[in-house]
Amino acid sequence: MKLHYQLNAAFTTLLLVILSVTGFVIYSLILNLLVQDEQRQLKQNGELIVTFLNEEFGTIQNFQQFSDFIEEQDLQLFVYDKQLNRILDSTMANNVEKGFFLNNDFADENESLWEYGNDKYVTSRISFYPESRGLQLILLTPLNDLQAVQHNFFVRMLIVFIVGAGAAVLLSYFLTNKLVTPLSRLKSQLKKIEKRQFDQIERINATGEIKEVEQSVFEMAEELQRYMKSQQTFFQNASHELKTPLMTIQGYAEGIRDHIFDQEDEEKGLEVMVTEVKRLKTIINEMILLAKLDSEQAAYQPKEIVVSELVDQVIDRALPLVNEKGISLTHDVEGDLTLHADQEKLLRALLNITFNGIRHARSHVKIKATKINHMVTITITDDGEGVPEDLVQHIFHRFVKGKNGETGLGLAIARAIVEQSGGKISVEQAEHGGAKFVLRFFGEIDKK
Ligand SMILES: Nc1ncnc2c1ncn2[C@@H]1O[C@H](COP(=O)(O)OP(=O)(O)OP(=O)(O)O)[C@@H](O)[C@H]1O
Ligand SMILES: [Mg+2]
Repeated sequence: MKLHYQLNAAFTTLLLVILSVTGFVIYSLILNLLVQDEQRQLKQNGELIVTFLNEEFGTIQNFQQFSDFIEEQDLQLFVYDKQLNRILDSTMANNVEKGFFLNNDFADENESLWEYGNDKYVTSRISFYPESRGLQLILLTPLNDLQAVQHNFFVRMLIVFIVGAGAAVLLSYFLTNKLVTPLSRLKSQLKKIEKRQFDQIERINATGEIKEVEQSVFEMAEELQRYMKSQQTFFQNASHELKTPLMTIQGYAEGIRDHIFDQEDEEKGLEVMVTEVKRLKTIINEMILLAKLDSEQAAYQPKEIVVSELVDQVIDRALPLVNEKGISLTHDVEGDLTLHADQEKLLRALLNITFNGIRHARSHVKIKATKINHMVTITITDDGEGVPEDLVQHIFHRFVKGKNGETGLGLAIARAIVEQSGGKISVEQAEHGGAKFVLRFFGEIDKK
């Protein structure tokens, strides 16, 4: 069943239960109230009559007049002698009077509901003065009259309840509709995400938690789209990168097999094949490393490392290349800086960046490590041509490379390692041109 109907059904059932219980309670209370009110009125009337009779017909000589007065009253009443347990007088016919006397215990003062025939009567009893005479006036009202009032009241209450319930159900229908509509719209947007129709996703007007969910779904779709795009480019680039050396190898291999080349070209071909196979091996190793960094936490073994030692290791390994290129490599490391990271991997990341710098620098590469805002910050700056603007956005993506690039995996590996170490890597323009790579680490352990 749809949520909309479920909510409405639940609300309507709840409403019906509440109204039925309320109706039942009111219906049963109202008769009691009416009986009590009737008894109070009967008592008031009775007291008036008794006072009047006490004053006017206090003596036995006046009994005839007393009796006449009683019969004139437009009320149902008895004059009862408690001591003799006998009806002295009443406004009713003799047989009715007898019927009442037979059916009910006149002496029982606690019984206020009497029966006669199929009807019930509310009674009220007032003693004549002095009470020791045992003379009582008993007034009656048929319960039927009260039940008619009760019924009348109940019918009105029912009408009010039905109209009220109708309005409430309509309102609930309207409100649940308002609540559920964004959800069903969201569902259709999720269907689009499932079918990867990212361009057709629309924003939904909603409030409160649904708005938050909608925002999250939208962000998730954007992230998914970005991820799928990057995966797609990754596969395209990867297959291209692997295909190029393979085609070279294939070309030379076929040429050698078919004896197309002379001795000299054949040797050159074999040399190229060995180089290309090495390159393939490097690419595949780097891809495996990246996949490991992405998926295997165990591949990463962090410990406390001293930044100055790490930078020394970078310099040692970079020196041959620096000498070969005839440029200078300097470093400036603040003492006592430590990091919590996998030393081997972080060395690899720094080497990737430094080798890039050496390759692009005109005359100088500088490694600097310092503490900024409680964060260990390592910068590697060169004075080369800098990173082309169109490359800056994607430079850390896999297989993204510039004009004189090699595989385009070095910086992707560096980023994966830096992020695994709880840091962030970014690239900016150096002050005097050239590229400046900045590595910021948040989880620094300060020894000082
Ligand atoms: N210091 C730099 N100055 C200018 N451009 C740079 C610099 N470092 C990197 N780049 C650009 O970024 C691209 C990507 O670098 P990355 O290290 O990821 O790949 P690569 O150096 O081409 O190959 P490899 O995977 O062998 O490192 C490079 O091809 C280059 O165009
Ligand atoms: Mg590189």
